[in-house]
Amino acid sequence: MWSTVLYIGVILIALRLFKMLRIPPRSKLPPGPTGLPVIGNLFQLPTSRPWLVFDEWMKQYGPIVYLNIADRRANIYSDRPDFVVLNLLTGGMHWAWTQADELWRKKRRGAHVAMNAQTAKEYFPYQETESVIMLNQLLADPENFTDHFQRASTSLTLTIVYGWPPLLDSAHPNVLHIDRMNHELLIAAAPGSFWVEFKHFKWMRYLPKWMCAWRRDAENAFNHDSVMFEELSADVQKRMDAGDDVTCVAAKILQETENLFEASWNSVSIYSAGAETTSGQLAWFMQAMILYPEAQLLAQDELDRVVGPDRLPTFDDYEHLPFIRATVKEILRWRGVSPLGLPHRLSEDDYYEGYFLPKDTTCFVNIWSLHHDTEVYGADAEHFNPKRFLDANGNLQSSIVDTKDEGHYSYGFGKRICVGRYIANNSLFIHIAFLLWAFNITAKVDADGNPILPDSLQFNEGLIVRPAPFSCNIIPRKMDASDIIAQAKADRGL
Ligand code: HEM
Ligand SMILES: *[C@@H]1O[C@H](CO)[C@@H](O)[C@H](O)[C@H]1NC(C)=O
Ligand SMILES: *[C@@H]1O[C@H](CO)[C@@H](O)[C@H](O)[C@H]1NC(C)=O
Ligand SMILES: *[C@@H]1O[C@H](CO)[C@@H](O)[C@H](O)[C@H]1NC(C)=O
Repeated sequence: MWSTVLYIGVILIALRLFKMLRIPPRSKLPPGPTGLPVIGNLFQLPTSRPWLVFDEWMKQYGPIVYLNIADRRANIYSDRPDFVVLNLLTGGMHWAWTQADELWRKKRRGAHVAMNAQTAKEYFPYQETESVIMLNQLLADPENFTDHFQRASTSLTLTIVYGWPPLLDSAHPNVLHIDRMNHELLIAAAPGSFWVEFKHFKWMRYLPKWMCAWRRDAENAFNHDSVMFEELSADVQKRMDAGDDVTCVAAKILQETENLFEASWNSVSIYSAGAETTSGQLAWFMQAMILYPEAQLLAQDELDRVVGPDRLPTFDDYEHLPFIRATVKEILRWRGVSPLGLPHRLSEDDYYEGYFLPKDTTCFVNIWSLHHDTEVYGADAEHFNPKRFLDANGNLQSSIVDTKDEGHYSYGFGKRICVGRYIANNSLFIHIAFLLWAFNITAKVDADGNPILPDSLQFNEGLIVRPAPFSCNIIPRKMDASDIIAQAKADRGL
């Protein structure tokens, strides 16, 4: 069954009571928690760690819906919900959040050309460079490791999108500015952040501006952000006009899009989708290394055999490092940064196995539940274990589930699947290979010598989910590692 049809557990966060008015007789809505009278499920919508609550619901009500999103259905599950605040913040210009219309298709195609499996290889040298800088920073300042991950993923995205040289310090004002916008978008899109997003409160969008701080704030932010984003793209245009060799996504977009305003939002959409995710995923990786030292040893053993002590890993080692590649898959499965994915909206009424799914239903796929399903991943689904992706000879085995060879759902679904997934996959591979080649990553110990283990069920809040702050020891494994790393940096003229 798993191999033939892609089954996706979808949690329908419909406000079912209100929808009922429109429901044809004799059809039934999918099972779910019973709402309180009048306000339906509104007050049951969890705003904190919703995926765990949905996971509970699923255990309680049975798989709330198992929905077949084969290609036919992908057509009607590819829109995004109509977020009022998010659309004000972006002027409807951020295409990761727009409807799957003709304009979206055009932008998505452009991004795919710039970031598909083949073009992603053009970015290998930049990804290696970011890893080199990252190791240098970790040697000097291991305590702030998450800052160095953030710098690396921000810097890579700026290089890919705007053709910037590597950023040595992530406290650049433009970076802080886009990161702030991103943060606001992710809040605006999280379930339950603003009343106006609920069907029953949509009338709030017609309130006069003086009555709504959320509208004023969002509109001001949009005007302010647009100015800066136009400057970023105008700067790329200036370099192109000067005859510089500018190979970046923003340049490609400018060649296709006359309008600077539109081009700049196309570019910033890609930037904002790429900067936060990879670094968050690396933070989870560090936690896995502390909690599962045996997996760390196996990975280091592979690196020592294939790469050896005298040079850094490279993308040329990719085929020969199946354990590292399995580690990438496993970290995306065990603690994907997006346990609910991004919301999709149903653009037409649909029926599935006797259930009625009304048009405009917001669908969050509970990726968390899928990834921790013991029937699919085995009794140890709770645990981090890259070996589950390897066969008896230590080679990657064809996927456990029908997930387009990923073995997990962390890159999303259907026509909306992450367009940056090849770049993301490669960044995770090279960063993880570098980290484990250079360092032992271990738990801190308390005064009595007992390890202080982080709780991997402590999360921060939001749509992109990082571990709660934790610390660890990052200890160089080799005497001369710092010489090799310093040399690699000098070779790159940094
Ligand atoms: C580990 C890193 C990453 C993860 C886990 C991730 C995950 C996701 C997910 C879950 C979605 C939504 C899919 C859906 O709606 O079903 C998405 C969309 C997207 N991602 Fe990623 N992503 C990552 C890195 C990146 C990078 C590096 C880039 C670009 C440089 C990127 C660009 C995008 C864009 C533009 C979209 C919107 C696609 C659309 O709406 O059509 N992502 N990503
Ligand atoms: C870690 O980051 C903090 C805040 O950015 C900074 O004050 C501190 O000096 C950093 N630690 C080291 C060892 O550089
Ligand atoms: C990510 O890497 C894994 C392991 O090499 C591979 O199976 C998968 O197809 C890759 N996915 C993408 C989107 O590159
Ligand atoms: C790194 O860990 C391995 C395995 O636990 C250990 O044998 C080795 O001594 C450690 N290296 C350093 C420098 O701590």
